[in-house]
Amino acid sequence: MSIRDVARAMVAPGKGILAADESSGTIKKRFDSIGCDSTEDRRRAYREMLFRAPGIGERISGVILFDETIRQNAADGTPLVKLLEGAGVIPGIKVDKGTGPLSGAPGELVTEGLDGLRARLVEYRELGARFAKWRGVIDIAGDTTPSQYCLDVNAHALARYAALCQDEDIVPIVEPEVLMDGDHSLERCFEVTTATLHTVFDALHDQRVDLEGMLLKPNMVIPGKKFAGGKASPDDVAAATIACFRAVVPAAVPGIVFLSGGQSDEEATANLDAINKRGAHPWEFSFSYGRALQHAALGAWGGSDANATAGQGAFSKRARLNGLARDGKYDAAMEREAS
Ligand code: 13P
Repeated sequence: MSIRDVARAMVAPGKGILAADESSGTIKKRFDSIGCDSTEDRRRAYREMLFRAPGIGERISGVILFDETIRQNAADGTPLVKLLEGAGVIPGIKVDKGTGPLSGAPGELVTEGLDGLRARLVEYRELGARFAKWRGVIDIAGDTTPSQYCLDVNAHALARYAALCQDEDIVPIVEPEVLMDGDHSLERCFEVTTATLHTVFDALHDQRVDLEGMLLKPNMVIPGKKFAGGKASPDDVAAATIACFRAVVPAAVPGIVFLSGGQSDEEATANLDAINKRGAHPWEFSFSYGRALQHAALGAWGGSDANATAGQGAFSKRARLNGLARDGKYDAAMEREAS
């Protein structure tokens, strides 16, 4: 399959992406929350539990893996990549190396990981990765942050990464995340997300990235968690998000796959559903959720293999409901159904 075919398959109707690419530091935080030691064996057991969820391939098109996971075997010796492929799920890989301080811009961040990236992509492709992910982080702090300088350097890195991926037959997921931390309004998120995406698509064009062979992974347009006016309704989030993307994202991009970014499980599903209920759109609107797909499953699993079935049930429920939301067919009443 060409990278264009892979990109389209990842946003097939009823399906979306599981982000299971938590770095060592992030997965430790998640395991701390359930009182489980973050050992290599427990990380393998947890992720194997998710990947073996019955029927995973009906709702999950692809899984983003971390470097450790793409090299790991299941308890019975099967490589986890083969397990996914066997279930009809496309394996992918996180290739950025996280954020560092942006020099000359106190408090702002730039994503690292371009040095040696081509060689790493060649190896990941051999290990079975058909797509990759790179996350740029944009923080809203007051009226003057982010700076255009911060948007420029992060967009430049995203475009360099995306061009290298396409050279190596890997679909780039381009993830410029405007954080929902902070007390900003939905209007301020709209403004910053619009500016960010303008900058990113400029850089992608400059660096000759094939828009039909990539996916965009953005935030929704949503107020900050500490916004004094509280949460916005799914209808308001949908209207603002669609207006933003219509203005700045070329129709050649096959799919927009949202991150959940700290939204609750049900919010992330309801907002995606509201966006799709307003379709048709020029792109597929789907999900690439980490926390909003895993939160309930992690709690139900609790670090113990004895709870694997409960963990899979909780995960499958979120995958199914997000799969419905991805087609605008979700109803909040479905939340009461057993997992
Ligand atoms: P969340 O859905 O938890 O935001 O994670 C998605 C992701 O891959 C962030 O880079």
